[in-house]
Amino acid sequence: MIPSLQYLDRYRNEGTRTYSKHSAYTEAKELYRPNASQKNFIVNAFAIPRQDLLIYTANPPQELSVSYLGKEKALFCIHPQVLEEYTTDPYVQAVIKTSKSRRKIEVIPSSSTRTLYVKSAFPHAIKLHFPFRVSRYNRKMRDEVIEQAVNVSRDMEYGIDNFDPTFAYLREVIGISYANLNTSSSRGENWGYLIRDMRPFPVCREKRALIPGFALYGKDFFTAEQAPLLYSLIDAADPVEFILGRIMLPIIHHWVQCFSTFGYMLEPHGQNVLLELDDEQNITRIVHRDLSVGIDMRRRQDLQISSTHLNQYNRMDYGQFLSIAYDMFMGSHFFDRIVACCREKFPGLTDEDFRKPCRQTFEKIFPEHRKYFPATIHYFSEQRDRYNKPLYKDTGKKPQWRP
Ligand SMILES: Nc1ncnc2c1ncn2[C@@H]1O[C@H](COP(=O)(O)OP(=O)(O)OP(=O)(O)O)[C@@H](O)[C@H]1O
Ligand SMILES: [Mg+2]
Repeated sequence: MIPSLQYLDRYRNEGTRTYSKHSAYTEAKELYRPNASQKNFIVNAFAIPRQDLLIYTANPPQELSVSYLGKEKALFCIHPQVLEEYTTDPYVQAVIKTSKSRRKIEVIPSSSTRTLYVKSAFPHAIKLHFPFRVSRYNRKMRDEVIEQAVNVSRDMEYGIDNFDPTFAYLREVIGISYANLNTSSSRGENWGYLIRDMRPFPVCREKRALIPGFALYGKDFFTAEQAPLLYSLIDAADPVEFILGRIMLPIIHHWVQCFSTFGYMLEPHGQNVLLELDDEQNITRIVHRDLSVGIDMRRRQDLQISSTHLNQYNRMDYGQFLSIAYDMFMGSHFFDRIVACCREKFPGLTDEDFRKPCRQTFEKIFPEHRKYFPATIHYFSEQRDRYNKPLYKDTGKKPQWRP
């Protein structure tokens, strides 16, 4: 029996965060961490007049708009650690001053810490402002980030026919942020949260299980000696055929389809990818989560598609981030880990057994890749910009997962 997504997301992630020197770092309080022993915690949702908020939607299901968006007021959710430690934040103060009532929402942390599963009849999650560092980044949810994720979600929904039937994603259906209280700053620091529909889109009626990518090779928090899930999924199949055919090549197709159609760069690392399984444990689809993607404006220009509905967030005019997303997040942080896990059980296999077919597929389905990608692998440098965002550097290394 495969454990629930919520269990796997919290507790089948041991030993996976070794891909960079920052990856194991967290400023989240113990009780709010995914692997806390506590089952759940409470998020305060404040009722705020709609005129004080900015609200973005992308076809939210009625169940969610009814519970979060009232006629006159909408709910503004704040992570408890922000309420505890950011008492002088102008938005925390404004919310507390304005709100006359609040709802208590019971949540379970997901693997990303700041995205929380809501205990509710309708499967959804809330991705909250969390200005503490987890891994490399401070996990703020500024207004433009929220708006852009909803924009991307809407675009992908209308453009879903550009993807294989093996593609699915989690829609960001509602975004709510507080109106900007300081318009003199060079960028809006007003923040809020996203509401994520947890039913993979396109919605399928049959019962399906979901497994986070890292749970294929991650160890269990409670029983570290359990065999990796990857082995039970491979079962009697040929391991190379299975991993390539069911996991890696579909993800490469999705990445290229998304980039080619929209210029959006999916970030398919082990935390952003979910495997969807039917009740016979066959992988039916790959579900992508997290739509805070880089946007390649060169590609959009080449496609001659309008970007007027997009704001400035994550617009890019150079190729470095393509390499970070594809070579590093997908190739190094995720695919290399799957291969290493597989080779422990099947020592006769080599890295090239997996990499070569991936390079060939990439070349075949994306022959114009050199126009957009840099020739070498790029990654984060330890330097940061004035907003504390990491800068990029050229590692000079040759890509492994693309030609
Ligand atoms: N095995 C893993 N690989 C990558 N990231 C992981 C892993 N396990 C946990 N994480 C955490 O997941 C987050 C990945 O960052 P990312 O920007 O993809 O997600 P997010 O935007 O915070 O949330 P979400 O994926 O819910 O939209 C980080 O907080 C990182 O520490
Ligand atoms: Mg993520």
